[in-house]
Amino acid sequence: MVKKVLMICLGNICRSPIAEVVMVDTLEKAKVKDVEVDSAAIGGWHVGNRADPRAISTLQKHGLKCTHIVRQIRKQDFSDFDFIFGMDEDNMSELRRLAPKDSKAELLMLGDFGLEKKNRIIEDPYYERGAEGFETAYQQCVVACAAFMKERLQK
Ligand code: 4NP
Repeated sequence: MVKKVLMICLGNICRSPIAEVVMVDTLEKAKVKDVEVDSAAIGGWHVGNRADPRAISTLQKHGLKCTHIVRQIRKQDFSDFDFIFGMDEDNMSELRRLAPKDSKAELLMLGDFGLEKKNRIIEDPYYERGAEGFETAYQQCVVACAAFMKERLQK
């Protein structure tokens, strides 16, 4: 049966598109099939846009391509997806607030998989001047996506 994974962050232009692309890459490299991955925003500011150029170039640096177009999370996502991931505590409280009572999706924080407790928050790099925070987010996603895949998708 197909499992569906949705990556969420505030704007869907920095962290969650990186997490989406990294999850797809992780699954492809491990030859894990029947998993669909998407990403979306809590807020609607960037709907219809591409990811932040720093997210795109960080992924490019690692040989990965991001063609995602920003969309906002909708009620239907809570019944369509099996796993909805937030990147930080604010994302998690928003997800819990938005979730309908009959939500099917498990709401999880991505960094709770594979990362040390003190490093489990995937911080918002949007307001930083350079692209360093994007590389950090990418590296966190690489570890967390692999750990989640092993724990929950390969059993
Ligand atoms: P993201 O970063 O949640 O990782 O995509 C942000 C992008 C845009 C904004 C905030 C965070 N914004 O306020 O526009």
